[in-house]
Amino acid sequence: MKTIPKPNFTAWFVMQGFIAAMRHPDYRSISDPEMLGIYEKLAVKASKTRLVSRMIHALPYRLQYCIGELVTNRGRLRHFIFRKTEIRKQAAALLEQGKIKQVIVLGAGLDMLSLWLSERYKDIRCIEIDTSESQVFKIEALQQMLEVMPDRVEFIEGDLRNPLKAILSGSRQYDPLAKTLWIAEGFFMFIPEESVTRIFQEMHSASAKGSTVIFTTIPSKKITSAMGHVIQTLYLQKEKSPFNWVLPHEKVAEYIKSMGYYLVLQLPCDLLHKRYIGGKYKGNHNFAEDIHIANTPVL
Ligand SMILES: C[S@@+](CC[C@H](N)C(=O)[O-])C[C@H]1O[C@@H](n2cnc3c(N)ncnc32)[C@H](O)[C@@H]1O
Repeated sequence: MKTIPKPNFTAWFVMQGFIAAMRHPDYRSISDPEMLGIYEKLAVKASKTRLVSRMIHALPYRLQYCIGELVTNRGRLRHFIFRKTEIRKQAAALLEQGKIKQVIVLGAGLDMLSLWLSERYKDIRCIEIDTSESQVFKIEALQQMLEVMPDRVEFIEGDLRNPLKAILSGSRQYDPLAKTLWIAEGFFMFIPEESVTRIFQEMHSASAKGSTVIFTTIPSKKITSAMGHVIQTLYLQKEKSPFNWVLPHEKVAEYIKSMGYYLVLQLPCDLLHKRYIGGKYKGNHNFAEDIHIANTPVL
């Protein structure tokens, strides 16, 4: 009997949380109806792959939102919408300049950013890398959802704890000389520090000078309430996706400098939330990921 491929648990959680946040009345104004439509179709398919996803998917969005925050922390679900909106804006602004010809998304999960970007920027090529469990599910789901598969987006299977160059050697469109936008959103915290460092070193030599990396970090493994931390730790262990690498945002500049990058922009998570909800923001920081944009020197 054919086994049904299932996406990585954390990829599903982010997608379902993102949908629940987009459906929340407070965040409707920053939701993109087109994106929401695509994600909802993907969520229907993902809901059939796990008991927990089936149960959550059957609930009204407001309840999904509350449960999502209960098992993580207050603000985490809206964080998905702010993080994704900001990364999409930053990526679009970089591509507008017309120099970047390749986008490579590491640990892409169920994210649809590369499809969105490739629709708007016709001269770019996108490559998504994730483990086979997520990729097989995503490709099969997209084949059923879309009339035509996007030919400028390539989905590659690979465990990124292994050398990036070997994974990219399986790509039909990867260009090591292209100015590249690398995106690692909600990903580095799941792999060991030595893999993160190796990936930064490899990205540097695997793309043209002046390439850019957008990435996120968590400041510590405990970014929830005490109860949320226990639930999260146990569940992530069960799903074989425990948090692994952490780095406070004030240490990021120094860390990447040692690998030849300089910081272009940093948006710690509290600043991100202030940016999107202004005066209504009543939070501490360190409850979700910080966003960073780094470049390699042009010369
Ligand atoms: C929290 S999800 C984030 C997905 C997506 N980037 C987003 O923001 O919606 C983390 C993703 O990293 C992927 N991942 C974790 N460890 C990996 C590894 N060693 N190699 C490749 N992908 C990995 C998971 O499969 C999952 O899709």
